Amino acid sequence: MKKVFVTRKILSEGLDLLAQNGFEVEVTTKDEPLTPAELMEKSKSVDALICTMADSINKDFLEKNTHLKIITNYAVGVNNIDLEAAKKFGIAIGNTPDVLTEATAEIAFGLMICAARNFRSAIRNAEEGKWKHFEPQGHLGHALKGKILGIVGYGRIGKRLGEMAHGAFGMDVRGYKRGEDLIAFLKDVDVLSLHIPLTPESRHIIGKKEMAALKKTAIVINTARGDVIDQDALYEALKRNEIFAAGLDVTTPEPLVPTHPLYSLPNVMILPHIGSATYEARRAMSIMCAENIMKAFS
Ligand code: DGY
Repeated sequence: MKKVFVTRKILSEGLDLLAQNGFEVEVTTKDEPLTPAELMEKSKSVDALICTMADSINKDFLEKNTHLKIITNYAVGVNNIDLEAAKKFGIAIGNTPDVLTEATAEIAFGLMICAARNFRSAIRNAEEGKWKHFEPQGHLGHALKGKILGIVGYGRIGKRLGEMAHGAFGMDVRGYKRGEDLIAFLKDVDVLSLHIPLTPESRHIIGKKEMAALKKTAIVINTARGDVIDQDALYEALKRNEIFAAGLDVTTPEPLVPTHPLYSLPNVMILPHIGSATYEARRAMSIMCAENIMKAFS
């Protein structure tokens, strides 16, 4: 009987499927990610892993676990996995594309509205008892209708966000094409949304120079990975009101400690990486991980 270890408690649909197909499934009993030593220990005696982006599947881990047939990430992004080393050691890698496209595009869309209309500072204001009157000039934000939405990473999720934004607000959607002049592209956009996978090439693709190219009224949305933005440059731009606002579902590091200076800014909305967190997406991700494993053994 082939054994599968699951590094976090996930929705059970895929695990049931594995059990029905003759796999022995063990799920961690912890409510937090395993330490590297725990992961190493647990992996020794199994044939496949379902892991999350919190698990560092690096060269050392892979070299010591060449008996694993497949490791499947409970995510579409695989930046936590050394793909080259996995290939070298003959370990198949799986992920969960497509099934979380809608959920992640919805979060980007939601963040875009929240950032454009100052949800964060307005909610704080109401909760802190500062809502005394209707404010004719308070909480002013920017309309989205007809504005330019620039998407860096025009793949599944980026395109779906583009459809939503065009359909709902008639936004002029522009996908950045590799090789194009990024600075020139950024100069025009009203909202910049990032959907690019994190690789050595895309790390800090939006840095100080790129931030400076954006309009003072620009909004930055990131639902990809924290490191595609130079977070210090983003912080400075937001603090000095060189851009209008940001909506982030991803940060560097994750979790972002509550004392982090970004939280002190009224014009940034931070979510704890919930892009794929719908019942529908997470169920489908569970099933896709199971299918990845079954395929690897068939
Ligand atoms: C992914 O799938 O890569 C997401 O970031 C996890 O929710």
